[in-house]
Amino acid sequence: MATSLNTVLVTGGAGFIGARLALGLKETCPETRVIALDNLKRRGSGLNLGRLRRGGVEFVHGDVRMPEDLPVLDRLDLIIECSAEPSVLAGYGGSPRYVIDSNLVGAVHCLELARRNNAAMIFLSTSRVYPLEKLRSIALEEAPGRFEIAPTQSLPGISRAGIAEDFPLDGARSLYGATKYAAETLIAEYVDMYDLDIVVNRCGVIAGPWQMGRVDQGIAALWTARHVYGGALTYIGYQGTGKQVRDMLHVDDLLALVLRQTAAMAELRGSVFNVGGGAENSVSLVELTELCCQATNTVIPIGADTENRQGDIPLYITDNARVTEACDWQPEKSAAVIIEDLARWIYDNRDMLQPILNA
Ligand SMILES: NC(=O)c1ccc[n+]([C@@H]2O[C@H](COP(=O)([O-])OP(=O)(O)OC[C@H]3O[C@@H](n4cnc5c(N)ncnc54)[C@H](O)[C@@H]3O)[C@@H](O)[C@H]2O)c1
Repeated sequence: MATSLNTVLVTGGAGFIGARLALGLKETCPETRVIALDNLKRRGSGLNLGRLRRGGVEFVHGDVRMPEDLPVLDRLDLIIECSAEPSVLAGYGGSPRYVIDSNLVGAVHCLELARRNNAAMIFLSTSRVYPLEKLRSIALEEAPGRFEIAPTQSLPGISRAGIAEDFPLDGARSLYGATKYAAETLIAEYVDMYDLDIVVNRCGVIAGPWQMGRVDQGIAALWTARHVYGGALTYIGYQGTGKQVRDMLHVDDLLALVLRQTAAMAELRGSVFNVGGGAENSVSLVELTELCCQATNTVIPIGADTENRQGDIPLYITDNARVTEACDWQPEKSAAVIIEDLARWIYDNRDMLQPILNA
């Protein structure tokens, strides 16, 4: 698997996903030089530096917004682009500058680095490239503890299996989604014009240990942490009933996919995949609460706020059919396992994580 890789750069490599991919790649291919670059903007990313060092991953403190921060290397085979401001709320009520500069301009700098080195790239995009109004117009049914996708739909690319790559792409999608989609557009040009092997993974919710969850990003970690440390939570929007649904993919399953992709970059070149936990691993907030109660043996108060949050959607479930077919991959770890792993990690590192996850 990916044995011919000499040097790999993981941008955002001290983040939740970047660190797991960097460490997993190094463990799988010990001969490969793996470099993690990160500006440590995300609170808690610094806690990953010890893990990276112990795992044999080199760390470079750098910012993808600054092309001069990207390392000059004799050889670079693959860039895994995981750096981003990953919040769908980024820019609401404030400046769009950071999210545009990091997610889009930073991605262009990574593409340029790939072009100069003739390197391959795996780009971590998002399900949020699909526009808000289109996602909100998916026909839903209301079941006791969750929304469900109705059997009959007027839009293409949506079925009981979830959202596929042919779901419509026209409309506003948040600055987060727009910067990722703009980067995807440029990626298609770099693939075509410069013959680069680039794969785009449009990820749904990814979760697991070492996710520094906060209110606007990393919901599974945040929800589990509240159950461990105590405190309160709120079901926000959609009548405050907690019926909104997301599928969740364990970060270990994403690593398994990325390892498969690294071994087949030429074959997969130019592919765009929806990647997520899929319908079997989808949970509503009410069901997430239940999983957290089971994993921590704790019940906490949960309030209701009926006002919908900006950028929110009632449901997102990934249809993995294309990526399963192309990469012979599917998720292995259930939502229950994700929450159990998160709870174990927080209990094991309770004091260290307290200022981050219980701030
Ligand atoms: N976690 C998810 O559920 C999810 C879902 C879909 C897509 N993604 C994408 O996956 C990638 C990784 O997300 P994550 O969950 O690990 O988030 P994360 O915040 O944990 O990791 C991102 C890392 O990028 C770093 N960073 C931010 N701006 C930077 C810059 N300008 N230069 C260098 N480093 C910078 C941060 O310090 C952080 O360590 C992102 O591109 C995100 O959009 C994540």
